[in-house]
Amino acid sequence: MLFHKSVRATSALFGFLFLLMTVVQAQTAKLPNVTILATGGTIAGTGATSTTTVGYTAATVGVQALIQAVPEITKVANITGEQVFQIASENMGNEHWLQLAKRVNVLLAQPNVDGIVVTHGTDTLEETAYFLNLVVKSKKPVVMVGSMRPSTALSADGPINLYNAVSLAGSQAAIGKGVLVAMNDQIHAARDVTKSNTTTADTFRAAELGMIGYIQGGKPFFYREVTRKHTVDTEFDIAKLDALPQVDVAYAYANVGAVAVNALVAAGAKGLVHAGVGNGSLPAKTKPALVAAREKGVVIVRSSRVGQGIVARNGEANDDQLDFVVADTLSPQKARILLMLALTRTSNTKDIQRMFYTY
Ligand code: DGL
Repeated sequence: MLFHKSVRATSALFGFLFLLMTVVQAQTAKLPNVTILATGGTIAGTGATSTTTVGYTAATVGVQALIQAVPEITKVANITGEQVFQIASENMGNEHWLQLAKRVNVLLAQPNVDGIVVTHGTDTLEETAYFLNLVVKSKKPVVMVGSMRPSTALSADGPINLYNAVSLAGSQAAIGKGVLVAMNDQIHAARDVTKSNTTTADTFRAAELGMIGYIQGGKPFFYREVTRKHTVDTEFDIAKLDALPQVDVAYAYANVGAVAVNALVAAGAKGLVHAGVGNGSLPAKTKPALVAAREKGVVIVRSSRVGQGIVARNGEANDDQLDFVVADTLSPQKARILLMLALTRTSNTKDIQRMFYTY
């Protein structure tokens, strides 16, 4: 009698466990598969005290610890984590970008990967975002995320930013929108977003061109479409590239001369972005050096230090005569990225100008 009771109890227990496993599998099967690629930054940073919001150490917490610190993300996606590198993003280099982009493309080509989150320092987050926006060859979501306060700080913004980024990367609504930046409950397009404040949590802005949506309660709400080509619609392919052409930025200001331009050209720049004053104006003491650089075959792009607005072709300089390119609305740091990729395809300035009006 006792034996029969214990058999019944055991089979009931196994039946329950099987049912539970089936439910969990069904739930998991419904969730999107999101891979988190960790690169470092403040989101992985630690400070000496809970009130240390400057003077902390970036890039110390590993990807598994980041994931474990936000268990809620496992409710919105099946998570896999990879530590691609562990650096403060002021140290991001072309070689990091190529390694990261190649890993993103390999992962997104896998049918069992629905989206990717890249955790990153905020200092150059906008640059990595734009680079990936031009070279990722998938419509699947790629979402960049960071934080302005280290993980140890009071009201650290990393956890909620990571939760939002994972929710966004797993959402159908984010498909085909290019690389996105999810910070401070806002969704930004990679091309137009920039870090606008040295320390505050609302630092990522696209000023006049605006954000494209919000994340509220873990759900994305889009209000704008991305108009410039990106990802699968670009002509750039980094699969076989081991390096990118050397392109630098020369910053203009009152009383500037030609030293920086000449030094950058002498150091081997193949392209030079001039961060001009106003509408991309060329100071008289700098212009001859830019003309000489062009004569040596260096491609010159006129951008502006101003931060908003179009640098007009043939406005402050006769670009047709000088054979210069204008950056449209791209910041100097983003114009550098597009010029680097353009130079992997052509040195024809008419073709390069087309690219600046396309991406
Ligand atoms: N060192 C800076 C960086 O890694 C810290 C800023 C941040 O990540 O928010 O970009």
